[in-house]
Amino acid sequence: MKPLVVANWKMNPRTLAEAKKLFNAVKNSGAVICPPFVYLSSLRANGAQDVFYEQTGAFTGEISSVMLKNLGIKYVIIGHSERRKYQKETNKMIEKKLKAALKTGLKPILCIDKISQIPKNIKPVILAFEPLSAIGTGKPYLVEKAKKMRRRIKHPFVLYGGSVNSENAASYIKKAGFQGLLVGAASLNAKEFTKIVKSVIN
Ligand code: PGA
Repeated sequence: MKPLVVANWKMNPRTLAEAKKLFNAVKNSGAVICPPFVYLSSLRANGAQDVFYEQTGAFTGEISSVMLKNLGIKYVIIGHSERRKYQKETNKMIEKKLKAALKTGLKPILCIDKISQIPKNIKPVILAFEPLSAIGTGKPYLVEKAKKMRRRIKHPFVLYGGSVNSENAASYIKKAGFQGLLVGAASLNAKEFTKIVKSVIN
């Protein structure tokens, strides 16, 4: 199977015009692109950064999996460490989100930084191992350490995430044995992101 590369734009960019420019430059790369919610429908993106666990109702500010599905979204990131930190998401909430996404037919990408965060009773389609020390720090995890971790995660499809760039991208797939990448900062630079995708898909 081809490696899967997922772009997590986080809370970027500032305008729809910039989002369109970036999206148009990377949309044919074969990657999953996860822009902020407000840009999803204009861009016709295939990924989202979060989802709520109820489908409709009095949940101010939330977005449901059925809404995402009806917009053509296929993949959704769940339990990103920034949401665990700033929105105080717990494993319990994350499990509810996973269940809702799976029920709706979205493919959840469950982010973890420890094995204990993998739920026992639900099978997320895709896991993303994102060591906290490497997320958004420009300090990528050592490939040797990543390889050890990959061996310990008994799941068929695991992405690596954390300071991925065009220099180190291929080593996480070819040396550490991951099935793909979750890319943050480097996904905001079309040239750099295209290089990353090319380095792992070829
Ligand atoms: P980063 O982010 O590539 O900027 O480290 C990765 C992520 O948080 O998914």
